[in-house]
Amino acid sequence: MKIVAMAARKGGCGKSTLTTHLAVAAIQDSKRVAIVDLDPQATVAEWADERGDDPPDVISSQPARLSKLLESMRGAYDLVLIDTPPTTGEADRMAIGAADLVLVPTRIQTSDIAAVLRSIDKASAQEKPTFVVFNDEAPSRRKTVAEETRSVLAQRGIEVAPQVIHSRIIYGESQDASKTALEVDPKSVAADEIRALYGWLTQQLNQQTNKPHNRQVAG
Ligand SMILES: Nc1ncnc2c1ncn2[C@@H]1O[C@H](COP(=O)(O)OP(=O)(O)OP(=O)(O)O)[C@@H](O)[C@H]1O
Ligand SMILES: [Mg+2]
Repeated sequence: MKIVAMAARKGGCGKSTLTTHLAVAAIQDSKRVAIVDLDPQATVAEWADERGDDPPDVISSQPARLSKLLESMRGAYDLVLIDTPPTTGEADRMAIGAADLVLVPTRIQTSDIAAVLRSIDKASAQEKPTFVVFNDEAPSRRKTVAEETRSVLAQRGIEVAPQVIHSRIIYGESQDASKTALEVDPKSVAADEIRALYGWLTQQLNQQTNKPHNRQVAG
């Protein structure tokens, strides 16, 4: 059972959206998937309420219960995604501690990137493989902006997922309908983006198995 934590102190950067979308991508890849929602806002738990018996299973929990909960889930799932609140607290620390890999979604904007660096420091302190995901990027903005930001982060030893997730109405609209872009319109560009991100994530999880992560963070 692989565990992926979404962690970003910045609110509204796409943690819950990417959590549900990656979960459904994994289901469509025949994986047994659950989401643990550590956010008291219960965004993902409410999304799941309307889905009835449709996977993924979503479990609302609290940081103090996380390790016991995950222990009880072992064997039942191939992939568990943990969504966390944007507030500083135990939730992201516990989620990162439990995770095989940490994803930090962010918009490509200086103030957001500053918040990313704080989340990354937390994950680095726990020596977890950590990747930024550029989210909600304007499709019309020149591609070089993402590439320049990627290289600035690379200079600090911070890796960014190759697939940029663009700002697309279908992400929010499908989420509001307790679905994902993958279900509402499997042929959409959004669905392609998510499948590409999921494919990369799967590769990373396979590569990282039993491999300690010794990131050298410069500066
Ligand atoms: N790629 C995207 N394109 C369009 N809208 C997006 C995208 N990503 C996120 N959003 C929208 O931005 C808002 C915030 O997204 P989301 O709830 O996923 O963020 P979050 O990081 O979980 O927020 P919080 O920190 O409050 O938990 C939502 O309305 C969502 O639909
Ligand atoms: Mg959220």
